[in-house]
Amino acid sequence: MSHTTRPDGIIIALDGPAGSGKSSTARAVAARLGYRHLDSGAFYRAITLAALRAGIHPDGWPRLTPDQLDRLDVHGRPAERGYTMTIGGQDVGGEIRSYQVNAHVSRMAAIPAVRAWLMDALREAGARGGLVADGRDIGTVVFPDAELKAYLIADAEERARRRLREQGVADPPLEEVRAEAALLQGRDAIDSGRETAPLRQADDAVVIDTTGLSFDQQVERIVALARERCGVDPHEQIP
Ligand code: CDP
Repeated sequence: MSHTTRPDGIIIALDGPAGSGKSSTARAVAARLGYRHLDSGAFYRAITLAALRAGIHPDGWPRLTPDQLDRLDVHGRPAERGYTMTIGGQDVGGEIRSYQVNAHVSRMAAIPAVRAWLMDALREAGARGGLVADGRDIGTVVFPDAELKAYLIADAEERARRRLREQGVADPPLEEVRAEAALLQGRDAIDSGRETAPLRQADDAVVIDTTGLSFDQQVERIVALARERCGVDPHEQIP
């Protein structure tokens, strides 16, 4: 039994800067607990991709209306353990990680109307609990009442190295690592500096520095917190 009145279990909020390993960690924690995973960044990425595909110039994005956003036809289709992002009904899971989207997503995510438009979809996904959600403002704005909040940080070069490895560069040269770190830090600066829902640690979040941790260790750290603080049984399944 977990300590919550939500029917499917607690909500775990994982926030942190770009490349801190939130999404992969959230997916693995969700699998351990039999929970669903909500990758909120994937929604911002899919909207960005849809606007780019529709040929809407980034200078015009701040004027997007809710109707225009609806017409972009972006949806998170519930999948077995998470959500599959679709545009016009087509799975765009791979394309939302492209360089093009990386370069533009923080600009889209800084627009208050876009954030407001998405909020309902994100809250709806969490209505029953049993969820591990990751992003920038999950513990502060989307689910301020989440039972467990963790804020993942890591040294910028370490984050860059992980991101490059994820993209298939086994042993990236230092120059490439530094260039990638600069890109990540650029995104962090926009995400932390924006007025609406900036990236910041919730007062009641546990900070986990993953720089010296292996992936399995960071997953275990969160699973242990869920067990110790919230009474979640790691083998608990959604009924
Ligand atoms: O995986 P990575 O940390 O690179 O990024 P992500 O979680 O996929 O998020 C991509 C971008 O979406 C971020 O840089 C933010 O600009 C935005 N985002 C946000 O503003 N709020 C969230 N809850 C999640 C993502």
